[in-house]
Amino acid sequence: MRANSPDRPKDSATIEERVATLLARMTLVEKVGQLTLVDANDAAAPQSLGDRLRAGLVGGVLNQVNVEIVNELQRIAVEESRLGIPLMVGRDVIHGFRTIMPIPLGQAATWNRELVREGARAAALEAAGAGINWTLAPMIDISRDPRWGRIAESFGECVLLTSELAIAMVQGFQGKDLSETGSIAACAKHFAAYGAVESGRDYASTDVSETELRNVYLPPFKAAVDAGVTSLMPSFSDLNGVPASANEFLLRQVLREEWNFDGFVVSDWDSIRQLQVHGLTENDQESAFEAANAGVDMEMTGDAYSEHLAGLVEAGRISLQVIDAAVGKVLAAKFRLGLFEQGTTTVAEAGQVAGEKALATAHALALQSVVLLKNDHGALPLSIDALNSVAVIGPLADAPYEQLGTWIFDGDPGLSVTPLSAIQGLVGDRIELRYVRAMENSRSRTNDTFDDAAAIAKESDVAVLFLGEESILSGEAHSRADIDLPGDQAQLVRRIRATGTPVIGVILAGRPLTLSNVVDDLDAILFAWHPGTMGGPAIADLLFGIESPSGKLPTTFPRVVGQIPIYYSQKNTGKPPSNDTVVHIDDIDTFAPQTSLGMTAFHLDTHFTPLFPFGYGLSYAQFEYRNIRATAPEVRLGDAVTVSVELTNRGVVAGDEVVQLYVRDPVASITRPIRELKDFRRVRLEPGQTITIDFELHTDDLAFYGRDGQLTTEAGEFHVWIGGSSEAQLRTDLRLVSGN
Ligand code: BGC
Repeated sequence: MRANSPDRPKDSATIEERVATLLARMTLVEKVGQLTLVDANDAAAPQSLGDRLRAGLVGGVLNQVNVEIVNELQRIAVEESRLGIPLMVGRDVIHGFRTIMPIPLGQAATWNRELVREGARAAALEAAGAGINWTLAPMIDISRDPRWGRIAESFGECVLLTSELAIAMVQGFQGKDLSETGSIAACAKHFAAYGAVESGRDYASTDVSETELRNVYLPPFKAAVDAGVTSLMPSFSDLNGVPASANEFLLRQVLREEWNFDGFVVSDWDSIRQLQVHGLTENDQESAFEAANAGVDMEMTGDAYSEHLAGLVEAGRISLQVIDAAVGKVLAAKFRLGLFEQGTTTVAEAGQVAGEKALATAHALALQSVVLLKNDHGALPLSIDALNSVAVIGPLADAPYEQLGTWIFDGDPGLSVTPLSAIQGLVGDRIELRYVRAMENSRSRTNDTFDDAAAIAKESDVAVLFLGEESILSGEAHSRADIDLPGDQAQLVRRIRATGTPVIGVILAGRPLTLSNVVDDLDAILFAWHPGTMGGPAIADLLFGIESPSGKLPTTFPRVVGQIPIYYSQKNTGKPPSNDTVVHIDDIDTFAPQTSLGMTAFHLDTHFTPLFPFGYGLSYAQFEYRNIRATAPEVRLGDAVTVSVELTNRGVVAGDEVVQLYVRDPVASITRPIRELKDFRRVRLEPGQTITIDFELHTDDLAFYGRDGQLTTEAGEFHVWIGGSSEAQLRTDLRLVSGN
């Protein structure tokens, strides 16, 4: 397929030259067309959209994944419009296309940059086969509120982990070169601080200070921009009083002036017209004015731009330069993608779905994403040789669709291997498997079959309970105020516990859950997130010790919902709680009235620590950290120092460990977090093996945005910890010195 432009620039022309040549030939109406993204989720799209495509009124389409229809839409745009400009074809390819990887929060639990990149690559290949050339991912909102349903789509609470995985996903989707087969453009979203919505209610307001924005919420986006992300999407929410879709500070000052982002900004779904609903504008025309001036280049659905932009230019309210800059960025993306040169996608390419490689990547990601939260008395792994019978119980043991999680428009549940079928496949007839679903779904309140479940548990050597929440309970606009296991699941746990048979809990969920009411009744807990297509085999491998668990929490698990927000990088406060001072509500009667109850930053009715901290995860191997040291006690501004640690596997099985380095700046011009992750590495150790792990810590890693909003590195002492979670105890100190 070739653009039908008679004066198509020579192949040697740069993208800038090609954009300029094309722009010079475009009418204002055609320019606005390039800024218009429409929903094409309809088999009749070529007919219903045909005339708009021919007139050059559409720059991109969304949500059409039938390759023949996509090809027809592209053909009309290229062959039947005056300028023959191809379309962006967008889709939410969030964690896989047909083959579904674990939800992004699960992928974050792998702490494995390379695997996350491979997962995105596999998704891009499958999606490209359907004619998609643009995914609306990665979602890189820092999320510190597990009530928020969209935490499932995120990489969790940590600035560094999110930034690193943002880079990995962008690289996976976009490949080395956007124009190579199987590369699709990425879109970093949702700019910015969407994860800070009040009380975890989706779309609610956000209010975040500029230092917090710059130190916490913006860095993942900066990382994605530096990694060459093609596009960026503002959030639905208002930030400090200005909705992100009209937020000049974010979209012009930070994104364009400070970061020199040269990709394009696409609104979220109809978010430009929602500026009126927010109470910022009176009508769609003013919404178009605000969004375009703030720097939103393309409108996703809605018709504020298509109806009003041209008029606003003609009235002199929006300059032609603003329009040309926006159109130029959209066209540049299309040139970079090679859309002007490429043929239409063939059905044969589309046939490469669910290849062995994608399934292997999905399996590896799932395996490394599962976190062993608890393992009393070596309850796990289960031994195929020693066991005669296993009871499999629960609503999520055999739920092929539910294990895929949120945002799986194109996922094929037919490809899912469930835990029940994987366990069956693994143990064959060597162990007797008994299965009772016990609950229709995770929310059920009928316990008619609890007796049956208890009966099979009683007569088996071990009971494995598959608990959690279905995919519908997390994701966009699926927030929860109570994040306990829903329905009668806690009762089911207690019922099985009462049989005296050892009980293993495997929890599938789109968010951290508050597990305080079941944790003591389970001998071991594997937290599997929504693990995707290959979740079953991964869980079976871990249950039976084919592999050792190695996932680490990318987000803190609260004890009770009232602790939220609770995250590892909190500030110290002037009155930090400690084990010596904490008083519990049950002890209050032992104090005289008006006695000081500790006077520290804690809740009276729960411990001040989380149930499970960030970075935490057990293994069947046994890791011992020793000998943390830095190559020098001082580091000069602009230099680096190596901090190393020795790690030994004292266990009897091999395993992966995620080694984590944390830093604290105890005295600074603004209060700083009690710990911040600065580096991490996943390593594999055989039993008895010892290795030394070196981390290079540069003084740039110690920089932060200060009171004036500027990046600063301050001289002084820094504490450095290395270990297997955010509660690592091995510490060394460093002094950063400025000057010569
Ligand atoms: C979501 C975006 C998504 C878009 C298109 C919106 O509701 O907020 O993340 O990309 O829909 O599906």
